[in-house]
Amino acid sequence: MLDAYEQNRRLGRGVNVLGYDPVWKPRSKARMHDKHFRLIREAGFNSVRISLHPFRDAGIGEKNKITDAWFGTLDWAVGQSLSNGLTTILDFHEYGVMGQDPIGNKGRFLAAWEQMAERYRDYPDNVVFEILNEPNGALTPELWNRFHSEAMAIIREKNPSRTVIIGPGSWNSINCLEKLELPENDRNIVVTIHYYSPMEFTHQGASWSDQRDKVGIEWQGTTEERQAINKDFQKAHAWAESHDRPLFLGEFGAYDKADVDSRARYVSCVARQAENMGWSWAYWQFDSDFIVYDIPHGRWVEPIRDALIPPENK
Ligand code: BGC
Repeated sequence: MLDAYEQNRRLGRGVNVLGYDPVWKPRSKARMHDKHFRLIREAGFNSVRISLHPFRDAGIGEKNKITDAWFGTLDWAVGQSLSNGLTTILDFHEYGVMGQDPIGNKGRFLAAWEQMAERYRDYPDNVVFEILNEPNGALTPELWNRFHSEAMAIIREKNPSRTVIIGPGSWNSINCLEKLELPENDRNIVVTIHYYSPMEFTHQGASWSDQRDKVGIEWQGTTEERQAINKDFQKAHAWAESHDRPLFLGEFGAYDKADVDSRARYVSCVARQAENMGWSWAYWQFDSDFIVYDIPHGRWVEPIRDALIPPENK
C-alpha cells in the first residue's frame, strides 16, 4: 500500500478545478475541456483537486441516488486527469449547506460517499478522496469528528487502501488542528489545511467576504509579512510532526482584485514556504476567480503560473 507521505509527495504541486464550471449542468456548457488537463500537466502541476457540489448541481436525485449525468461528468474529469498523469482528488465541496444544517444533510452526505466509494473502488491509487471541504458553522469541530469518522467507515469498506484527506474544523484552519481527532490506526490519511492570511489582502473586494469594501491593498513581501506566514506554518508543522501526519495545503491564493504583482509575490511566498515544510499544495484555482488560467482568452496568467511553478524548476 502506498505510504501517505509518498502519496503526499505525488500530490506535489496542484490546482483546484471545476468547482464553479457550468460543466455540471449540462455538460455542453463546459468551460474546461480535455485540453486543459493536458495544459495543467505541461505547466508542471502534479495533481488536481476537483471540487464537487452534487447538492447544488442536482447530482443527487430521489432516495439520495447520484444521477447518471453527474457521475458521467465526474468520470470524464477523473479520466482526463488520470490520463494526463495527474493525481486526482475528489473533494466534497458542499461546505455551505453542511455548515448550515449538518444533521439535516448528513443522510445525503453519507449516501454520496457510499456511492462514490463504490464507483471508484477499482480506480488506481492516485485517486484520493477528500471527505469535506472546510467544515464550519453548525458543523462544529466536535461534530465534524463524528461526521468524518462515519464517512471514513463507509469509505474503508470498499477502499481499504485508498488515501483519504481530512482537515480540521473552522474552515480547515491551522488553529483548529488541535481539535481534529483521527483514527490512530489508519495511517493512510493526509491532513489538509487552507490558508488565506492576511484576509484583507487575499479577499479584498470579494463580495462573499468581510473584505468586500477593501481595495488597493498590496503585499510587498516584507520580512514581517513573510514571518507572519512562517509563524502560522510552523504551528501546523509542529502539529504534523507530533501526530506523524503529512500535510496538504489544499487551498491558498489571492483574489483577482488585488494587483497581479502582489498576488504573484504572495503566491510564490506561500508555495515555497509550504514546500520547505515538506507539504503538498493546491492553488485556488484554475478558472473562475483567483485564476491562474484565462479560459476565454486561452492563456495562462503567467505571473501567477510562474510564481507557482518557477520556470527554472518545472
Ligand atoms: C470556496 C470559494 C471561494 C474560496 C476563497 C473556496 O473554498 O469554495 O467559493 O472563492 O474558497 O474564498
